[in-house]
Amino acid sequence: MIPSSKIADTRAKITETRPIGADVTVLTLECPEIAASAKPGNFVNIKVTDASQPLLRRPFCIHNVGAGTIDVMVKNVGKGTSLLCDAACGTSVMVLGPLGNSFGTESGDFDTALLVSGGIGTAPMLFLEKSLAAQGIPFMNLVGGRSRNDLLTRGLSNCSTSTDDGSEGFHGNVVELLNNRLEALPSGSRPKVFACGPNPMLKALARFCANRSIPCELSLESVMGCGVGICYGCMVELNNADGEKETVLLCKEGPVVDGSRFTA
Ligand SMILES: Cc1cc2nc3c(=O)[nH]c(=O)nc-3n(C[C@H](O)[C@H](O)[C@H](O)COP(=O)(O)OP(=O)(O)OC[C@H]3O[C@@H](n4cnc5c(N)ncnc54)[C@H](O)[C@@H]3O)c2cc1C
Ligand code: FES
Repeated sequence: MIPSSKIADTRAKITETRPIGADVTVLTLECPEIAASAKPGNFVNIKVTDASQPLLRRPFCIHNVGAGTIDVMVKNVGKGTSLLCDAACGTSVMVLGPLGNSFGTESGDFDTALLVSGGIGTAPMLFLEKSLAAQGIPFMNLVGGRSRNDLLTRGLSNCSTSTDDGSEGFHGNVVELLNNRLEALPSGSRPKVFACGPNPMLKALARFCANRSIPCELSLESVMGCGVGICYGCMVELNNADGEKETVLLCKEGPVVDGSRFTA
């Protein structure tokens, strides 16, 4: 996990909005400073409107990076995300980033990357797979959802899906799909899991990987305020090196954490 260095607070024009499902929209934001230093796993903190409410910024993973632009994939779950999903092209929002640490793809302790995601947790995976491809590291996307309408696979390569109701792909959860795909890897493979999704999924995944000694990095979520370690709004409990619980600020020490820190 690598901490980010250059942080910009910039007014970014929304140049494109693409609804990709009933309640999910991908927005392209013109912010060259952030695009230039962003790494997969980083997030941005967006003031979704110039009006006073909602007052606090909202955090979003960097979904993709283009020439001077970043994309965010936003699921409409409340007031802030609704305003962002409905924002018109040409309007602008304040964007702070890149924030947090990034996925550790350069650790050299693996030869196959398994990108495991659930629901809106698929948001950081497009940027991550592009980075892995540029490094020549083989990868596989495993994407889970409750049903086919929850699968957000747009733009991803080498992708297998699972649904809880069996409406598409593997019938079961994404951890069971991972188990199935691991069995098919050539013997001697050294896989590493990179994951993002709802906390119960990540807990189960962390336990699964710990039991099999598979290295695993998880991008966690918490409620956030400032995004830079000032407000103490993002405290989460993780295991420390001695296996004891400690409270950390997720915006500073995360959002990417080693899976061993998130087991029960
Ligand atoms: C590091 C990080 C990266 C994220 N990346 C993405 C992303 O790429 N795409 C995306 O759609 N969402 C992402 N989220 C979640 C997103 O920030 C929240 O959904 C958003 O802040 C909700 O704002 P709202 O005003 O619409 O909801 P509110 O009206 O404030 O709340 C509506 C509901 O959402 C819940 N909620 C509020 N904040 C969060 C939160 N931070 N995490 C989870 N639930 C929350 C509330 O408890 C409530 O149930 C990320 C969160 C973090 C911490
Ligand atoms: S969000 Fe303010 S300290 Fe982490």
